[in-house]
Amino acid sequence: MKHLFKKVLVCTICFSLGSVFAASQDTASEETIWLSSLDVSRVEQGWGQARSNRSVDNRRMMIAGQRYQNGIGTHANSSIPLLLDGNGVELSGRAGLDDETRNRGSVVFQITADGKEIWTSGLMRPGDAAKEFTLDVKGVKALTLLALDGGDGFDYDHADWVDLKITMINNGKPKLDIPPIEDAVILTPKPAASPRINGAKVFGVRPGSPFLFRIAATGDRPMTFSADGLPSGLTLDSETGQITGKLEKAGEYKVMLHAKNALGRADREFRIICGSQIGLTPAMGWNSWNCFASAVTAESIKAAADAMVKSGLIDHGWTYINIDDFWQVHRDSKDPTLQGPKRSPDGRILPNPRFADMKGLVDYVHGKGLKIGIYSVPGPWTCGGCVGSFGHELQDAQQYAEWGFDYLKYDWCSYNPAFEDRRDDKDWNPYTSPNIQYSGGDHPIKGRAPFKRMHEALAQQPRDIIYSLCQYGMGNVWEWGTEVGGNSWRTTQDINDSWNSMSGIGFRQAGLEKHAGPGHFNDPDMLVVGHVGWGNPKPTKLTPNEQYTHISLWSLLASPLLIGCDMTKLDEFTLNLLTNDEVIEVNQDPLGRQAGRITQEGTREVWAKQMEDGSMAVGLFNRSQREQTVTITWSDLEITGQQSVRDLWRQKDLGKFTGQFQAQVGRHGVVLVKIAPAK
Ligand code: GLA
Repeated sequence: MKHLFKKVLVCTICFSLGSVFAASQDTASEETIWLSSLDVSRVEQGWGQARSNRSVDNRRMMIAGQRYQNGIGTHANSSIPLLLDGNGVELSGRAGLDDETRNRGSVVFQITADGKEIWTSGLMRPGDAAKEFTLDVKGVKALTLLALDGGDGFDYDHADWVDLKITMINNGKPKLDIPPIEDAVILTPKPAASPRINGAKVFGVRPGSPFLFRIAATGDRPMTFSADGLPSGLTLDSETGQITGKLEKAGEYKVMLHAKNALGRADREFRIICGSQIGLTPAMGWNSWNCFASAVTAESIKAAADAMVKSGLIDHGWTYINIDDFWQVHRDSKDPTLQGPKRSPDGRILPNPRFADMKGLVDYVHGKGLKIGIYSVPGPWTCGGCVGSFGHELQDAQQYAEWGFDYLKYDWCSYNPAFEDRRDDKDWNPYTSPNIQYSGGDHPIKGRAPFKRMHEALAQQPRDIIYSLCQYGMGNVWEWGTEVGGNSWRTTQDINDSWNSMSGIGFRQAGLEKHAGPGHFNDPDMLVVGHVGWGNPKPTKLTPNEQYTHISLWSLLASPLLIGCDMTKLDEFTLNLLTNDEVIEVNQDPLGRQAGRITQEGTREVWAKQMEDGSMAVGLFNRSQREQTVTITWSDLEITGQQSVRDLWRQKDLGKFTGQFQAQVGRHGVVLVKIAPAK
């Protein structure tokens, strides 16, 4: 018989850039290909992004002290799906944990061929030498390289596949089995021309604080607003829908709001709860960080406020315009717009030259019917290296109130629980020597103290300031965030606009639902739709389905909704995502419940939340790369009988169902429905 495969040339030197490892002159002969030559950026993994020839943290790959030039750096749980079409011969390489985890993490590497395991590394720990494999893959159609967490969660599981190459025949090429990105389909009809009242149905205010609430309503202008039962002390501007004034006495007031235009009128019940609790529904607004990061200026804040109004977002309940880091003077920046005196001689915080007229800026934003937020940290320096609040907490709270701020995001960077013991030590200066050794930020008491201190400072101010904690979930903040006065607390590290980051964070919120309620919410970080990019904004890398998943999940989670994009570049798709009032109502529901995970079958998950009107908001999610059918049964939802199902993104009734509801859900997508007893 004729020899079918003839190795013509065997090259032992690797070409650093080329994908072909050993070329052949004969079409039927073998070719060896580095798998790092594939575009691995859309590989699914638990954290970060897979990289060619670099670790997940974008460093040179190193396993047990040994450097590797070639390979794929991933993070558990990751799956690299390859199509070989039966043209593979041999797969070889090594796998191990990257030394960059500094002795943390554990991973099990696994390779499957057409669904069957053909190799596993067993449990690997940091410092283990890379494990080698050489596998026969003749006739295999689909090969999957998995890096799974070692049973202790996936934190620090930086998993490297190195020297990873495959020999192919018949000119076959390994392909990544990742389907193309779907079209951006707008699902939601435009708001009607007749009036509809949107936004929060319940509002908390403290006695004596200025009342600031604008009735959000869509529909043609001119529109006239009125209200029945408005308690004395409050007045409503019939043209703008702005309610202002003061309530002196604690109590609950039921008001009926009306909005009227040439085409009709809308009425809506509105509850005012005057007491100690504010922020009864999750904050909705915008924050500068995900878009501008250190490049934020007063002009970009004004432009965001302008766009919030011009785009109509304000009419759907979007309210806060929040300045993140970099409004203060920087520790040592060379940029003159970040330089200047850090505090006045009497200790008052001074904005940097970009925010020369802070009061003017606050008034400008208020003048648009919006509210405004500011940012600080309990330590001496913010995460970006600007002046923090350490030792000046009360003074800073007073200053925010004097300027007229309505919201404070209080981050963590540069704080150290050991500071708690040194606050009164005159010989110690945290600004010049902040590096006290401390093992972590989750000290059970000392890690809470700085947040409580700022809460007490805010509570003394003559205006209501929403308090947003940002310490990334340390010390199970959800268990004590309410105690230290938090209206919300970040539960995770920073989000970015990748599927792995967004979905990893979002779906990891399961179990935290018992800690959320009116006035205190879990915060899985800001929205990454539209143009985002931390100083270099570009269209989000989330696909259209992933963006629907993002907004649906954050709505179900009763998470603060803070848009992170360049508001001057809102496109129609993004605007549609942010203006579906039925979806927003899921987020703003007065019960303040956070959805829990009801079922999980592989990559299919159903999450549901109880709504005030007796219905349930239910998200059917598909975390896989292919369309799937997702089913929810009434028994899983603990409901019975005939139920009406409404598709919230399409704002369309789907009919009456008994026993269960089933939907085709696109890759990384969602079908978000409201299920209510059929009339
Ligand atoms: C941290 C926070 C971010 C942002 C930056 C500012 O990383 O988590 O949301 O506020 O600090 O420096």
